[in-house]
Amino acid sequence: MITLDIQKTLGFISKEAVYDYESQAKAARAALENGTGKGNDFLGWLHLPSSITAEQLADLKATAQVMRENCEVVVVAGIGGSYLGARAVIEALSNSFTWLQEKKENPVILYAGHNIGEDYLYELTGYLKDKKFGVINISKSGTTTETALAFRLLKKQCEDQRGKEMAKKVIVAITDAHKGAARVTADNEGYKSFIIPDNVGGRFSVLTPVGLLPIAIAGFDIERLVAGAVDMEKTCGVDTPFAENPAAIYAATRNELYKNGKKIEILVNYNPKLHYVSEWWKQLYGESEGKEHKGIFPAAVDFSTDLHSMGQWIQEGERTIFETVISVEKVNHTLTVPSDEANLDGLNFLAGKRVDEVNKMAELGTQLAHVDGGVPNIRIVVSDLSEYTIGELLYFFEIACGISGYILGVNPFDQPGVEAYKKNMFALLDKPGYEEESKAIRARL
Ligand code: PA5
Repeated sequence: MITLDIQKTLGFISKEAVYDYESQAKAARAALENGTGKGNDFLGWLHLPSSITAEQLADLKATAQVMRENCEVVVVAGIGGSYLGARAVIEALSNSFTWLQEKKENPVILYAGHNIGEDYLYELTGYLKDKKFGVINISKSGTTTETALAFRLLKKQCEDQRGKEMAKKVIVAITDAHKGAARVTADNEGYKSFIIPDNVGGRFSVLTPVGLLPIAIAGFDIERLVAGAVDMEKTCGVDTPFAENPAAIYAATRNELYKNGKKIEILVNYNPKLHYVSEWWKQLYGESEGKEHKGIFPAAVDFSTDLHSMGQWIQEGERTIFETVISVEKVNHTLTVPSDEANLDGLNFLAGKRVDEVNKMAELGTQLAHVDGGVPNIRIVVSDLSEYTIGELLYFFEIACGISGYILGVNPFDQPGVEAYKKNMFALLDKPGYEEESKAIRARL
């Protein structure tokens, strides 16, 4: 279960001001439902949870099983929306250390195609040398340089190491139905493939095979994940009154804070497993709202780790920030602080207490300190970390993002700004077709 608490923003903005967004939020929600807003050709994610069929889930699970049976390691090749959702869920639910253990229940999931680090790829391919590994090549366009480059290396290594026949079994493509190099390669090679629907943008694709297949291979229950998302889809439905729709309230609150000069939203967690949920969230909100010279800058920290680095800035730096804290109510394991006779560290006052109790007091103490220091605080309370609650959380952030973007007045579903660097990079690398741009860019150097 997920609940939203905006109480600790109310010294900075008023509840009335948040509720004044009711008609805008309702109009935004209706525009999503009716497909009448900007970017309405990319609304396929809206009812994705409730429209996933049992056959689709079974197909994903069967493919996951083939990969699980034949691979010790599976490399997810993708960037941005084509890997962050899977990584967010897998890291949130995984034991932080099983990948180091000799005997493993599940394949180790590694990531490539999300950077152009030569050392990273050298080390990854080196690590894979004696491993039975498989690859999921994820690219909606099928032409993303980072992903294509990593896949070229991994495909060759997989074929050389495991033979062409086995490679066909353990390489899976998730891409467009018809176009792009990834589709052509998959069809030519006879890889198992899944389709990313045309009307679902990368950052909204976690509940398509893009997210679901890697998550299933990692050993998690994709049916429960989808069930959580389905329930949140209902909770945030078009007929839900504003006051009962957590996504609408979140969207209204952050827009009101933005109007009041809070230009940066820091997503905070007190559980290191949520680091990649924040990475996913940063892309979702950054790419959706940062346009037309507008938009909250989405930042993220892991507490209490970053209280020892960024804590100073948050407490006393420029007052243009607010925090949204993901608070996990109940942890999955129990560990108490032992008593120590010498008590040299002076920690015997904690003896017998749960480690999580210490963490919760760090959280509460930080919230009060930051509010005192001028930082409004939104809390999203997640009852526990499970497939179900993560499914709820993902859909909550997606629908809130759609509503928030429409309130802001932008098209939350395009990303024209991401092309600029690609054009320059291709010109600098002398890609065929970029001759004019190459000449022009060299003249500037
Ligand atoms: O949200 C987006 O559109 C981007 O992050 C893309 O997902 C990312 O650039 C990868 O694109 P593609 O899946 O076409 O390789």
